[in-house]
Amino acid sequence: MERLQKVIASCGVASRRKAEELILAKKVTVNGRVVSELGVKVSDKDIIEVNGERLNREEKVYYLLNKPRGVITSTTDDKGRTTVVSLINEDKRIYPVGRLDYDTTGALILTNDGEFANMMMHPSNNIDKVYVAKIKGILLPSEIMQLKKGIVLDGVKTSNAKVKVKKIDKENNTSIVELIIHEGKNHQVKRMFEAVGKDVIKLKRERIAFLDLRGLNSGEYRKLSHKEVSQLYVLVK
Ligand code: URA
Repeated sequence: MERLQKVIASCGVASRRKAEELILAKKVTVNGRVVSELGVKVSDKDIIEVNGERLNREEKVYYLLNKPRGVITSTTDDKGRTTVVSLINEDKRIYPVGRLDYDTTGALILTNDGEFANMMMHPSNNIDKVYVAKIKGILLPSEIMQLKKGIVLDGVKTSNAKVKVKKIDKENNTSIVELIIHEGKNHQVKRMFEAVGKDVIKLKRERIAFLDLRGLNSGEYRKLSHKEVSQLYVLVK
């Protein structure tokens, strides 16, 4: 048995708080009866409707994909490009948690659990996203400091980042840099490097929290275990 608001949230209909508001506003029914107080628990067999629409209560699934280059992070694509969802053999309607660019590779989670997806994407939850970028040029100490302290993107400063220069190739004037951030603004890593005058040549997300790509070649995926999913919830609490 699970709390009604948690079940509503996990189906991706609303956040947990919004689900509570919907219950209090008498917009939720369980087996045809309006529930208007919080704390009611429901089982898998109960039929729940929110605003007259039945909740799809299928089993929740969680995947970690090693996204290849040239694949779009989307559920569908009107240009016929391969999507990350099409790489995974799953009949349930899964979707990506956050976004990797078409040319970015690496760790991407896909799920049909809306509450989990929101939790993972919320920047205040401090989930490490570890990127390794090959950039043109060599970072000056002042530029490293700027990246660490935050860069103003769309008028808002990015939060503190960890930056580690892993390799410098003077001959080709390129560097390999690890950047650890918690947010997921559009093209964030590329725009952060751009802001210090460096173009990103290649970008890979090597890890999300404790989930790295060990055992997954490009295009391969695996299911997350119950333990891993609970550990992610523990991390953000
Ligand atoms: N930042 C980027 O610039 N691109 C990505 O794909 C992910 C993070």
